[in-house]
Amino acid sequence: MRLKLKTVFVLYFLVSLLGLIYALMQLGQRCDCTEHDAPKERTISRLRGELRRLRERAKKSEVAGQPQIESSPPPTIFVITPTYARLVQKAELTRLSQTFLHVPRLHWIVVEDSQTKTPLVGQLLAQSGLSYTHLHVATARERKLQEGDPSWLKPRGVEQRNEGLRWLREDRGAPGDRRGGQSGVVYFADDDNTYSLRLFEEMRSTRRVSVWPVGLVGGMKYEKPVVEGGKVVRFHVGWRPGRPFPLDMAGFAVSLELLLANPDSRFDGDAPTGFLESSLLQGLVTADQLEPKADNCSKVLVWHTRTEKPKMKREDALQAQGLGSDPAVEV
Ligand code: UGA
Ligand code: MN
Repeated sequence: MRLKLKTVFVLYFLVSLLGLIYALMQLGQRCDCTEHDAPKERTISRLRGELRRLRERAKKSEVAGQPQIESSPPPTIFVITPTYARLVQKAELTRLSQTFLHVPRLHWIVVEDSQTKTPLVGQLLAQSGLSYTHLHVATARERKLQEGDPSWLKPRGVEQRNEGLRWLREDRGAPGDRRGGQSGVVYFADDDNTYSLRLFEEMRSTRRVSVWPVGLVGGMKYEKPVVEGGKVVRFHVGWRPGRPFPLDMAGFAVSLELLLANPDSRFDGDAPTGFLESSLLQGLVTADQLEPKADNCSKVLVWHTRTEKPKMKREDALQAQGLGSDPAVEV
Protein backbone atom coordinates (compact mmCIF):
# COMPACT_ATOMS: atom_id res chain seq x y z
CA MET A 1 0.00 0.00 0.00
CA ARG A 2 2.84 2.42 0.90
CA LEU A 3 4.67 1.52 -2.27
CA LYS A 4 1.61 1.99 -4.36
CA LEU A 5 1.04 5.41 -2.94
CA LYS A 6 4.64 6.35 -3.73
CA THR A 7 4.23 5.12 -7.35
CA VAL A 8 1.08 7.15 -7.74
CA PHE A 9 2.88 10.19 -6.39
CA VAL A 10 5.85 9.73 -8.75
CA LEU A 11 3.52 9.17 -11.69
CA TYR A 12 1.56 12.29 -10.79
CA PHE A 13 4.81 14.25 -10.59
CA LEU A 14 6.04 12.95 -13.94
CA VAL A 15 2.74 13.74 -15.72
CA SER A 16 2.70 17.31 -14.29
CA LEU A 17 6.32 17.81 -15.35
CA LEU A 18 5.56 16.64 -18.88
CA GLY A 19 2.56 18.96 -19.00
CA LEU A 20 4.70 21.88 -17.86
CA ILE A 21 7.42 21.14 -20.44
CA TYR A 22 4.80 20.92 -23.20
CA ALA A 23 3.28 24.23 -22.14
CA LEU A 24 6.69 25.92 -22.07
CA MET A 25 7.48 24.61 -25.58
CA GLN A 26 4.21 25.99 -26.91
CA LEU A 27 5.03 29.46 -25.58
CA GLY A 28 8.11 29.80 -27.71
CA GLN A 29 6.37 28.63 -30.87
CA ARG A 30 4.92 30.99 -33.56
CA CYS A 31 1.21 30.52 -33.91
CA ASP A 32 -0.40 30.15 -37.29
CA CYS A 33 -1.65 33.74 -37.34
CA THR A 34 -2.31 34.25 -41.09
CA GLU A 35 -6.00 34.50 -40.40
CA HIS A 36 -5.60 37.40 -37.93
CA ASP A 37 -3.18 39.35 -40.15
CA ALA A 38 -4.97 39.03 -43.48
CA PRO A 39 -7.12 42.22 -43.29
CA LYS A 40 -4.11 44.30 -42.13
CA GLU A 41 -2.00 42.97 -44.98
CA ARG A 42 -4.72 43.78 -47.47
CA THR A 43 -5.00 47.40 -46.21
CA ILE A 44 -1.23 47.87 -46.35
CA SER A 45 -1.00 46.63 -49.91
CA ARG A 46 -3.99 48.75 -50.99
CA LEU A 47 -2.36 51.87 -49.51
CA ARG A 48 0.96 50.98 -51.15
CA GLY A 49 -0.83 50.74 -54.50
CA GLU A 50 -2.55 54.07 -53.98
CA LEU A 51 0.74 55.75 -53.04
CA ARG A 52 2.35 54.36 -56.17
CA ARG A 53 -0.48 55.65 -58.36
CA LEU A 54 -0.30 59.11 -56.73
CA ARG A 55 3.48 59.22 -57.23
CA GLU A 56 3.02 58.37 -60.89
CA ARG A 57 0.38 61.07 -61.34
CA ALA A 58 2.54 63.68 -59.60
CA LYS A 59 5.45 62.74 -61.86
CA LYS A 60 3.28 63.01 -64.98
CA SER A 61 2.01 66.52 -64.12
CA GLU A 62 5.58 67.60 -63.34
CA VAL A 63 6.62 66.43 -66.78
CA ALA A 64 3.65 68.25 -68.35
CA GLY A 65 5.04 71.32 -66.61
CA GLN A 66 1.77 72.75 -65.35
CA PRO A 67 -1.56 71.91 -63.77
CA GLN A 68 -3.64 69.62 -65.96
CA ILE A 69 -6.58 72.03 -66.37
CA GLU A 70 -5.22 74.75 -68.62
CA SER A 71 -7.79 77.51 -68.12
CA SER A 72 -7.40 81.30 -67.92
CA PRO A 73 -7.14 82.67 -64.37
CA PRO A 74 -10.37 83.88 -62.73
CA PRO A 75 -11.14 87.58 -63.36
CA THR A 76 -9.83 90.24 -61.00
CA ILE A 77 -12.48 92.31 -59.25
CA PHE A 78 -11.73 96.04 -59.46
CA VAL A 79 -13.59 97.81 -56.67
CA ILE A 80 -13.97 101.59 -57.09
CA THR A 81 -14.66 103.43 -53.82
CA PRO A 82 -15.24 107.18 -53.57
CA THR A 83 -14.42 108.52 -50.11
CA TYR A 84 -14.24 111.88 -48.34
CA ALA A 85 -12.76 113.18 -45.09
CA ARG A 86 -15.08 113.11 -42.07
CA LEU A 87 -14.95 111.78 -38.50
CA VAL A 88 -16.06 108.25 -39.42
CA GLN A 89 -13.88 107.88 -42.53
CA LYS A 90 -11.12 105.81 -40.97
CA ALA A 91 -13.65 103.49 -39.33
CA GLU A 92 -15.48 102.98 -42.64
CA LEU A 93 -12.31 102.33 -44.62
CA THR A 94 -10.93 99.98 -41.95
CA ARG A 95 -14.10 97.88 -42.04
CA LEU A 96 -14.13 97.85 -45.82
CA SER A 97 -10.45 96.98 -46.20
CA GLN A 98 -10.79 94.10 -43.76
CA THR A 99 -13.74 92.71 -45.72
CA PHE A 100 -11.74 92.93 -48.95
CA LEU A 101 -8.78 91.09 -47.37
CA HIS A 102 -10.97 87.98 -47.46
CA VAL A 103 -11.59 88.30 -51.21
CA PRO A 104 -9.04 86.74 -53.56
CA ARG A 105 -7.97 88.62 -56.71
CA LEU A 106 -9.37 91.98 -55.69
CA HIS A 107 -7.83 95.34 -56.60
CA TRP A 108 -9.12 98.32 -54.64
CA ILE A 109 -9.28 101.69 -56.38
CA VAL A 110 -9.82 104.31 -53.70
CA VAL A 111 -10.63 107.78 -55.00
CA GLU A 112 -10.57 110.60 -52.48
CA ASP A 113 -12.88 113.55 -52.88
CA SER A 114 -10.09 116.03 -52.06
CA GLN A 115 -7.56 118.41 -53.57
CA THR A 116 -4.69 116.08 -52.60
CA LYS A 117 -4.26 112.53 -51.38
CA THR A 118 -4.51 112.59 -47.59
CA PRO A 119 -1.97 110.86 -45.30
CA LEU A 120 -4.82 109.16 -43.40
CA VAL A 121 -6.02 107.29 -46.48
CA GLY A 122 -2.49 106.81 -47.83
CA GLN A 123 -1.27 105.15 -44.64
CA LEU A 124 -4.40 103.07 -44.24
CA LEU A 125 -3.96 101.69 -47.77
CA ALA A 126 -0.22 101.10 -47.34
CA GLN A 127 -0.86 99.09 -44.18
CA SER A 128 -3.95 97.31 -45.49
CA GLY A 129 -2.24 94.34 -47.12
CA LEU A 130 -4.44 94.84 -50.19
CA SER A 131 -3.58 95.39 -53.82
CA TYR A 132 -4.70 98.98 -54.41
CA THR A 133 -4.53 102.23 -56.38
CA HIS A 134 -4.85 105.56 -54.57
CA LEU A 135 -6.37 108.41 -56.58
CA HIS A 136 -8.02 111.75 -55.86
CA VAL A 137 -10.25 114.31 -57.50
CA ALA A 138 -12.13 117.07 -55.71
CA THR A 139 -15.81 117.57 -56.40
CA ALA A 140 -16.42 121.13 -57.61
CA ARG A 141 -17.82 123.30 -54.80
CA GLU A 142 -21.10 124.01 -56.62
CA ARG A 143 -21.64 120.29 -57.12
CA LYS A 144 -21.05 119.38 -53.50
CA LEU A 145 -23.81 119.01 -50.92
CA GLN A 146 -23.75 121.86 -48.44
CA GLU A 147 -24.44 121.59 -44.71
CA GLY A 148 -28.20 121.30 -44.32
CA ASP A 149 -28.94 120.22 -47.93
CA PRO A 150 -31.17 117.16 -48.24
CA SER A 151 -28.99 114.18 -49.28
CA TRP A 152 -30.93 113.59 -52.52
CA LEU A 153 -30.24 117.10 -53.83
CA LYS A 154 -26.91 116.33 -55.48
CA PRO A 155 -25.33 113.04 -56.38
CA ARG A 156 -22.18 112.06 -54.47
CA GLY A 157 -19.01 110.29 -55.53
CA VAL A 158 -19.65 110.89 -59.25
CA GLU A 159 -16.38 112.46 -60.30
CA GLN A 160 -14.50 109.98 -58.11
CA ARG A 161 -16.09 106.93 -59.78
CA ASN A 162 -15.39 108.47 -63.19
CA GLU A 163 -11.76 109.01 -62.15
CA GLY A 164 -11.59 105.31 -61.24
CA LEU A 165 -12.93 104.44 -64.70
CA ARG A 166 -10.38 106.75 -66.32
CA TRP A 167 -7.55 105.00 -64.45
CA LEU A 168 -8.84 101.57 -65.48
CA ARG A 169 -9.01 102.59 -69.13
CA GLU A 170 -5.55 104.09 -69.03
CA ASP A 171 -3.83 101.43 -66.97
CA ARG A 172 -5.66 98.31 -68.10
CA GLY A 173 -6.95 99.43 -71.45
CA ALA A 174 -3.86 99.94 -73.58
CA PRO A 175 -4.08 97.70 -76.66
CA GLY A 176 -1.89 94.65 -76.26
CA ASP A 177 -1.61 95.27 -72.55
CA ARG A 178 -4.35 93.04 -71.27
CA ARG A 179 -2.03 91.65 -68.59
CA GLY A 180 -1.80 88.28 -70.28
CA GLY A 181 -5.47 88.19 -71.25
CA GLN A 182 -6.50 88.93 -67.69
CA SER A 183 -10.20 89.66 -67.54
CA GLY A 184 -11.87 91.85 -64.94
CA VAL A 185 -15.09 92.86 -63.26
CA VAL A 186 -15.74 96.40 -62.01
CA TYR A 187 -17.83 97.10 -58.90
CA PHE A 188 -18.68 100.48 -57.36
CA ALA A 189 -18.55 100.04 -53.60
CA ASP A 190 -19.43 103.06 -51.45
CA ASP A 191 -17.38 103.24 -48.27
CA ASP A 192 -20.32 102.92 -45.85
CA ASN A 193 -22.21 99.87 -47.15
CA THR A 194 -21.97 96.32 -45.78
CA TYR A 195 -20.77 93.60 -48.15
CA SER A 196 -21.07 89.83 -47.80
CA LEU A 197 -18.05 87.88 -49.05
CA ARG A 198 -20.45 85.76 -51.12
CA LEU A 199 -21.30 88.80 -53.23
CA PHE A 200 -17.81 88.91 -54.73
CA GLU A 201 -17.89 85.30 -55.86
CA GLU A 202 -21.31 85.94 -57.40
CA MET A 203 -20.09 88.92 -59.42
CA ARG A 204 -16.83 87.31 -60.54
CA SER A 205 -18.59 85.50 -63.39
CA THR A 206 -20.08 88.73 -64.85
CA ARG A 207 -20.06 88.66 -68.65
CA ARG A 208 -21.61 92.09 -69.33
CA VAL A 209 -23.60 93.49 -66.39
CA SER A 210 -24.72 91.40 -63.43
CA VAL A 211 -27.40 92.43 -60.92
CA TRP A 212 -28.69 91.40 -57.47
CA PRO A 213 -30.81 92.70 -54.60
CA VAL A 214 -29.68 95.46 -52.23
CA GLY A 215 -30.97 95.46 -48.66
CA LEU A 216 -32.21 98.47 -46.66
CA VAL A 217 -32.41 100.89 -49.56
CA GLY A 218 -34.93 103.19 -51.19
CA GLY A 219 -37.11 103.25 -48.09
CA MET A 220 -37.66 99.49 -48.45
CA LYS A 221 -36.44 96.24 -46.85
CA TYR A 222 -34.77 95.55 -50.16
CA GLU A 223 -34.88 96.53 -53.82
CA LYS A 224 -34.35 93.83 -56.38
CA PRO A 225 -34.64 92.87 -60.01
CA VAL A 226 -37.53 90.44 -60.55
CA VAL A 227 -36.39 87.34 -62.44
CA GLU A 228 -38.60 85.09 -64.54
CA GLY A 229 -37.24 82.25 -66.62
CA GLY A 230 -33.68 83.35 -65.81
CA LYS A 231 -34.25 86.91 -67.14
CA VAL A 232 -34.84 90.24 -65.42
CA VAL A 233 -38.41 91.19 -66.34
CA ARG A 234 -38.96 94.17 -63.99
CA PHE A 235 -37.75 95.72 -60.74
CA HIS A 236 -39.16 95.54 -57.23
CA VAL A 237 -38.61 99.17 -56.20
CA GLY A 238 -40.73 101.74 -54.41
CA TRP A 239 -39.74 104.82 -56.36
CA ARG A 240 -39.91 105.46 -60.12
CA PRO A 241 -39.78 101.88 -61.36
CA GLY A 242 -39.89 103.29 -64.89
CA ARG A 243 -36.25 104.45 -64.76
CA PRO A 244 -34.15 102.65 -67.40
CA PHE A 245 -32.18 100.85 -64.66
CA PRO A 246 -33.81 101.31 -61.25
CA LEU A 247 -30.75 99.92 -59.46
CA ASP A 248 -28.69 101.18 -56.53
CA MET A 249 -24.97 101.65 -57.11
CA ALA A 250 -24.35 98.59 -54.91
CA GLY A 251 -26.66 96.38 -56.98
CA PHE A 252 -24.64 95.74 -60.14
CA ALA A 253 -21.18 94.98 -61.56
CA VAL A 254 -19.83 95.56 -65.07
CA SER A 255 -17.26 93.57 -67.00
CA LEU A 256 -14.00 95.42 -67.58
CA GLU A 257 -14.03 94.36 -71.24
CA LEU A 258 -17.42 96.01 -71.75
CA LEU A 259 -16.18 99.26 -70.16
CA LEU A 260 -13.05 99.23 -72.30
CA ALA A 261 -15.09 98.55 -75.43
CA ASN A 262 -17.22 101.63 -74.61
CA PRO A 263 -14.59 104.22 -73.78
CA ASP A 264 -17.07 107.10 -73.43
CA SER A 265 -19.42 105.47 -70.93
CA ARG A 266 -19.37 107.23 -67.58
CA PHE A 267 -21.57 108.55 -64.78
CA ASP A 268 -23.42 111.77 -65.62
CA GLY A 269 -23.33 114.13 -62.65
CA ASP A 270 -26.10 116.18 -64.27
CA ALA A 271 -28.48 113.25 -64.51
CA PRO A 272 -31.69 113.82 -62.53
CA THR A 273 -31.88 112.35 -59.00
CA GLY A 274 -32.04 108.57 -59.19
CA PHE A 275 -30.77 108.38 -62.76
CA LEU A 276 -27.04 108.22 -61.97
CA GLU A 277 -26.76 104.43 -62.29
CA SER A 278 -28.87 104.50 -65.47
CA SER A 279 -26.57 107.13 -66.98
CA LEU A 280 -23.69 104.63 -67.00
CA LEU A 281 -25.65 101.47 -67.81
CA GLN A 282 -27.77 102.88 -70.64
CA GLY A 283 -24.88 102.88 -73.05
CA LEU A 284 -23.71 99.40 -72.06
CA VAL A 285 -26.64 96.94 -71.95
CA THR A 286 -30.32 96.47 -72.39
CA ALA A 287 -32.46 95.32 -69.46
CA ASP A 288 -32.99 91.86 -70.98
CA GLN A 289 -29.21 91.31 -71.11
CA LEU A 290 -28.79 91.77 -67.33
CA GLU A 291 -27.37 88.71 -65.61
CA PRO A 292 -29.19 87.90 -62.38
CA LYS A 293 -26.96 86.68 -59.52
CA ALA A 294 -27.51 85.70 -55.88
CA ASP A 295 -29.81 82.74 -56.64
CA ASN A 296 -31.89 84.52 -59.27
CA CYS A 297 -31.91 87.69 -57.17
CA SER A 298 -33.49 85.92 -54.19
CA LYS A 299 -30.68 86.63 -51.68
CA VAL A 300 -29.58 89.92 -50.10
CA LEU A 301 -25.76 90.00 -50.01
CA VAL A 302 -25.18 93.75 -49.71
CA TRP A 303 -26.82 96.30 -47.45
CA HIS A 304 -27.08 100.06 -47.97
CA THR A 305 -26.11 100.80 -44.39
CA ARG A 306 -25.45 104.43 -43.42
CA THR A 307 -23.31 105.48 -40.53
CA GLU A 308 -24.70 107.97 -38.06
CA LYS A 309 -22.80 111.26 -37.93
CA PRO A 310 -21.21 111.34 -34.46
CA LYS A 311 -22.15 114.26 -32.22
CA MET A 312 -19.25 116.31 -30.84
CA LYS A 313 -21.14 118.30 -28.20
CA ARG A 314 -18.87 117.36 -25.30
CA GLU A 315 -15.73 117.53 -27.41
CA ASP A 316 -16.64 121.07 -28.43
CA ALA A 317 -17.39 122.04 -24.83
CA LEU A 318 -14.06 120.67 -23.60
CA GLN A 319 -12.21 122.28 -26.48
CA ALA A 320 -13.66 125.65 -25.49
CA GLN A 321 -11.94 125.11 -22.11
CA GLY A 322 -8.70 124.06 -23.78
CA LEU A 323 -9.26 120.44 -22.72
CA GLY A 324 -10.16 118.92 -26.08
CA SER A 325 -8.86 115.55 -27.31
CA ASP A 326 -5.26 115.46 -28.56
CA PRO A 327 -5.41 116.43 -32.29
CA ALA A 328 -2.31 114.27 -32.89
CA VAL A 329 -4.35 111.12 -32.23
CA GLU A 330 -5.76 109.93 -35.55
CA VAL A 331 -9.36 108.75 -35.24
C1 UGA B 1 -26.80 106.69 -52.34
C2 UGA B 1 -26.25 105.65 -53.31
O1 UGA B 1 -26.13 104.39 -52.67
C3 UGA B 1 -24.88 106.13 -53.79
O2 UGA B 1 -24.29 105.14 -54.57
C4 UGA B 1 -25.07 107.39 -54.56
O3 UGA B 1 -23.83 107.90 -54.99
C5 UGA B 1 -25.72 108.41 -53.64
O4 UGA B 1 -26.92 107.92 -53.03
C6 UGA B 1 -26.05 109.65 -54.45
O5 UGA B 1 -27.20 110.09 -54.42
O6 UGA B 1 -25.16 110.14 -55.11
P1 UGA B 1 -25.83 107.53 -49.96
O7 UGA B 1 -25.66 106.61 -48.81
O8 UGA B 1 -26.95 108.50 -49.92
O9 UGA B 1 -25.87 106.69 -51.28
O10 UGA B 1 -24.47 108.33 -50.27
P2 UGA B 1 -23.10 108.38 -49.47
O11 UGA B 1 -22.80 107.05 -48.89
O12 UGA B 1 -23.11 109.54 -48.57
O13 UGA B 1 -22.08 108.68 -50.65
C7 UGA B 1 -21.77 107.74 -51.66
C8 UGA B 1 -20.25 107.61 -51.81
O14 UGA B 1 -19.70 108.87 -52.21
C9 UGA B 1 -19.54 107.20 -50.53
O15 UGA B 1 -18.53 106.28 -50.81
C10 UGA B 1 -18.97 108.50 -50.01
O16 UGA B 1 -17.77 108.34 -49.27
C11 UGA B 1 -18.71 109.27 -51.30
N1 UGA B 1 -18.82 110.73 -51.12
C12 UGA B 1 -19.86 111.30 -50.46
C13 UGA B 1 -17.83 111.55 -51.64
O17 UGA B 1 -16.87 111.07 -52.24
N2 UGA B 1 -17.93 112.92 -51.46
C14 UGA B 1 -18.94 113.50 -50.79
O18 UGA B 1 -18.96 114.74 -50.66
C15 UGA B 1 -19.94 112.66 -50.27
MN1 MN C 1 -24.02 105.50 -48.33
